[in-house]
Amino acid sequence: MSAPNKSYDPVEVEALKPEVIERMRDEALAAFATAGDLDALAHAKVAHTGGTSPLALANREIGALPPQAKAEAGKRVGQARGAVSKALAARQVELEIERDARVLVEEAVDVTLPYDRVPAGARHPLTTLSERIEDVFVAMGYEVAEGPEAEAEWFNFDALNIGPDHPARGEADTFFVEGAHSPRAGGSTGSGVVLRTHTSPVQIRSLLDREPPVYVICPGRVYRTDELDATHTPVFHQVELLAIDEGLTMADLKGTLDHMVQELFGGEGMKTRLRPNFFPFTEPSAEMDMVCYVCRGESVGNPDRPCRTCSSEGWIELGGCGMVNPKVLVACGVDPEKYSGFAFGFGIERMLMFRHNVEDMRDMVEGDVRFTRPFGMEI
Ligand code: PHE
Repeated sequence: MSAPNKSYDPVEVEALKPEVIERMRDEALAAFATAGDLDALAHAKVAHTGGTSPLALANREIGALPPQAKAEAGKRVGQARGAVSKALAARQVELEIERDARVLVEEAVDVTLPYDRVPAGARHPLTTLSERIEDVFVAMGYEVAEGPEAEAEWFNFDALNIGPDHPARGEADTFFVEGAHSPRAGGSTGSGVVLRTHTSPVQIRSLLDREPPVYVICPGRVYRTDELDATHTPVFHQVELLAIDEGLTMADLKGTLDHMVQELFGGEGMKTRLRPNFFPFTEPSAEMDMVCYVCRGESVGNPDRPCRTCSSEGWIELGGCGMVNPKVLVACGVDPEKYSGFAFGFGIERMLMFRHNVEDMRDMVEGDVRFTRPFGMEI
């Protein structure tokens, strides 16, 4: 490196002349002031404070000056650079504040605007109600059992003591899949295949599959040759319950029914009553009613308080029940001297109708989500 040039006059170095330094400083300040955003400021920063910026280059000239001139020029350049970096920092802060304010405005979410309603699916209320009923019995130790919907005639009828001359076996009620074995068609019994007309064949399958004691709840789809109208549907759902153990009586059946309606409809005073009836597979048999869960019977004989749910009758018909006929036990290889039991069955559509004021059965099968959605997404 050459020695300092003592005769060197800093004013003669073009880049260090006070007016030049001032111009460099002013240009830098102007560039910062006109930078409209942080990107523009970053460019201006490189141009005016970077290694090849005019002030940096001027700074480099100082080294070669004689000591006194060095101090003077150093002070001048230093002040200019100080002013430039101060202005840069101030503009940086200003532009950041501006940017933050803009982002707040641009990215603001108006929570009061209507949002795009993407319709969510909903489980069918028949499914959720059926699962609710199952839950009541699973909590009591029952097991959920299932069987085929295309069922052998023997399971659907014969094993349930529904003889060949029973009217339900005619084609007027039953969908035959293989072999029309109604007596009028002159067929034999027991060997055809039908769409099951009730869930009772699952009783038979459960008894054949298991050793007593047997406690099962069988939900499922069943078929009858009805036209679809407001109160009939050729495909509907039933829940069948079967309990076989030593020493079971009708008192157990009654207690079980009362517990079920209390769990499903809640509250004090929910109970059932039995009315004599006939089913080939139960003996004795009964029709079961539950007290109206809306008026709890108080609308009866009380014209001031009519009840739409039970038509002021105080009771709502649920389904059939009874003590399992010993003939059914024998057909399944269960000793009727040792074991007894009860069964009941009812339609889920019917329960859904009176539980939720559904007036037309067709609403349940049409698959319109406007029907299912109000029931919610109960899991
Ligand atoms: N299976 C009968 C029906 O479909 C209902 C029932 C089940 C009756 C169990 C008594 C016992 O109507």
